[in-house]
Amino acid sequence: MVRCPAFSCRDSLLSSPFAMLKQLEQIESDALNAIASVSDETSLEKARIEFLGKKSRLSAALAGMRDVPKEEKKAVGQKLNQVRGAITTCLDEKTAEITAVRDAAAFASIDPTLPGRTIPEGALHPLTHVLDRAVSVLRRMGFALAEGPEIETEWHCFDALNTPEDHPARNESDTFYFENGKLLRTHTSSVQIRTMEAQAPPVRIIAPGSAFRRDEIDSTHLSAFNQLEGLYVDQQVTLADLKGTLEYFFREMFGSKIELRFRPHFFPFTEPSFEVDLKFQTSRKADKWIEIAGCGMVDPNVFDSINTARGDSEFSDVTGFAFGMGLDRLAMITYGIPDLRLLIENDVRFLEQFGVG
Ligand code: DAH
Repeated sequence: MVRCPAFSCRDSLLSSPFAMLKQLEQIESDALNAIASVSDETSLEKARIEFLGKKSRLSAALAGMRDVPKEEKKAVGQKLNQVRGAITTCLDEKTAEITAVRDAAAFASIDPTLPGRTIPEGALHPLTHVLDRAVSVLRRMGFALAEGPEIETEWHCFDALNTPEDHPARNESDTFYFENGKLLRTHTSSVQIRTMEAQAPPVRIIAPGSAFRRDEIDSTHLSAFNQLEGLYVDQQVTLADLKGTLEYFFREMFGSKIELRFRPHFFPFTEPSFEVDLKFQTSRKADKWIEIAGCGMVDPNVFDSINTARGDSEFSDVTGFAFGMGLDRLAMITYGIPDLRLLIENDVRFLEQFGVG
């Protein structure tokens, strides 16, 4: 038995379907009047529950349908649906009206003609750009990425690289030493040693990373800087392979209109050794050679140290070449940056000029 306090359905329904139609009309007009007088969301929700909720007069009328004589069911049913439809539409319209008023009030305090705020976009550091490009060129040539620790032993940084005790690079005034005898690596060449200790030939690696020296900081020196090391060891690797590799690499980096010069030099761990100079044919300073890398054929003494450390002779009948270059310098040349310090100061006015992705 349905309880319906506001709607004495049973009696009227039973007595007269006509009375029921009348009552439904009454519900409709009560509902529409009530909804029309509402002006906030809470009251509107109350009206929805009152007129469409489970305990509403309309629900009671629906329950009373089962007592309506068969021949009247259709007419009463249709009326019921129509009333419910009318109330629902009215509620929807009122909801839209209240929302519109609320939105208009919210917008009133906003000035839509003000320019929008731009969201600052991050970008890659110029050094990262150059590193990514260099690595991708060298990887295409078959070089794999290798790495080693920045806090190194003297043996990996100097002794194994044929750098004797009295070499100036080992001096306290050139190198950061720790009390335990370790040091901040002065070059990435130590990764050559780390790799050959761990891996038999053929070895073809590049090792980008930081290096550290006790240098006074100025426009061309930093005490922490970045290098890119390369090493290729196999049977019958020749100086022609070294020259071909570096020429291809620098043409990929700077275009085909550059000239390279291999100038004899000395490095303890390569023999013969060279410094590589670069000349841009197109630039205003076309006649100026810029020093860009060190390189050479791996000194047999280095292979001897490796064999001794490994306790085998894997590196006995091999030859190899190595090269190393300053990544910061590469970035300076690529972007025409006049002062190395700009690369570490992180001044947004400088960095945003390279925001190309
Ligand atoms: N390690 C050298 C430096 O820091 C650069 C270098 C020169 C690396 C010759 C090499 C090389 O691998 O073969 O100045």
